[in-house]
Amino acid sequence: MSCSKVVLITGASMGLGRDMAEMLAADGWTVFGTSRDPERYSPEGRQMLALDVTDDASVRACVQQVMQRAGRLDALVNNAGYGLSAFAEEASVEEIRAQFETNYIGVHRMCRTVLPIMRAQGHGRIVNISSLAGLFGTPPSAHYAASKHALEGYSQTMRFEVAQFGIHISVVEPGLTKSAFRENVAEPAEPLAAYDRLRTHLREMGPRSEERAHPSIVVARTVRRVLRARNPRLRYTCTPLDWMAAHLRCWLPERAMHWIVRKVFGV
Ligand SMILES: NC(=O)c1ccc[n+]([C@@H]2O[C@H](COP(=O)([O-])OP(=O)(O)OC[C@H]3O[C@@H](n4cnc5c(N)ncnc54)[C@H](OP(=O)(O)O)[C@@H]3O)[C@@H](O)[C@H]2O)c1
Repeated sequence: MSCSKVVLITGASMGLGRDMAEMLAADGWTVFGTSRDPERYSPEGRQMLALDVTDDASVRACVQQVMQRAGRLDALVNNAGYGLSAFAEEASVEEIRAQFETNYIGVHRMCRTVLPIMRAQGHGRIVNISSLAGLFGTPPSAHYAASKHALEGYSQTMRFEVAQFGIHISVVEPGLTKSAFRENVAEPAEPLAAYDRLRTHLREMGPRSEERAHPSIVVARTVRRVLRARNPRLRYTCTPLDWMAAHLRCWLPERAMHWIVRKVFGV
């Protein structure tokens, strides 16, 4: 049984989740990370468990293992996710379902499984990794943005419901961050030729955007900040630029926001 605080981080094999796991382990947490293929990873300072957030039995088995090994669960970071890089019209219903199965329903599966444990403990923290796309979508990721908007609404509402049990819900909203995310995006099975000009333009922009992406460590620092806070807020951005982007959306008139996006994305 563990005497240090215990955190479970979904999707900790690479990218943002791996950085969070390393940073929280260095901060004294007992860290459980997950992967669909945990045998491929043997990180120091944390235990890797098998987890596919789209599978009920896998979620139950993963949380059971944490409880068997550590006897408690103080925090859950719902980080596992991927992007569907498809224009709104060209994504099939199956592709949209798969996007929501991981990014939204997967988070709900995790919450539904850990909340009884946290309620019994009388405390707990859940940090959901959303995105600036959860506040404002840009092409070609309408369904990714929709899944993260859903996650925002879910987290904001659940925060009211579980506060009475001593459980805090927060969302972290990273902007463009360096990771394998863009290599792991799902492409539409049936791309529409009508969008080829825009697709090519956005692909050409890719390397420049990648240069502007911030290092994944800034997201890990933000998650650590949420977990250290006495009274964590609902929403956290990760850099001053992301904070500005999140707030411009509220301050600027709709037309101005659209003008900026059209200029930046060439639409
Ligand atoms: N990178 C960005 O620019 C950015 C910006 C905003 C928000 N985000 C969000 O940050 C989170 C992490 O993304 P990342 O950039 O670190 O991407 P990444 O490098 O592609 O890592 C994705 C992680 O999710 C896990 N995963 C994917 N599908 C899963 C499933 N069905 N069940 C369990 N685990 C699954 C993967 O684990 P295995 O493959 O090992 O199973 C991997 O560890 C995502 O929620 C993403 O939407 C990223």
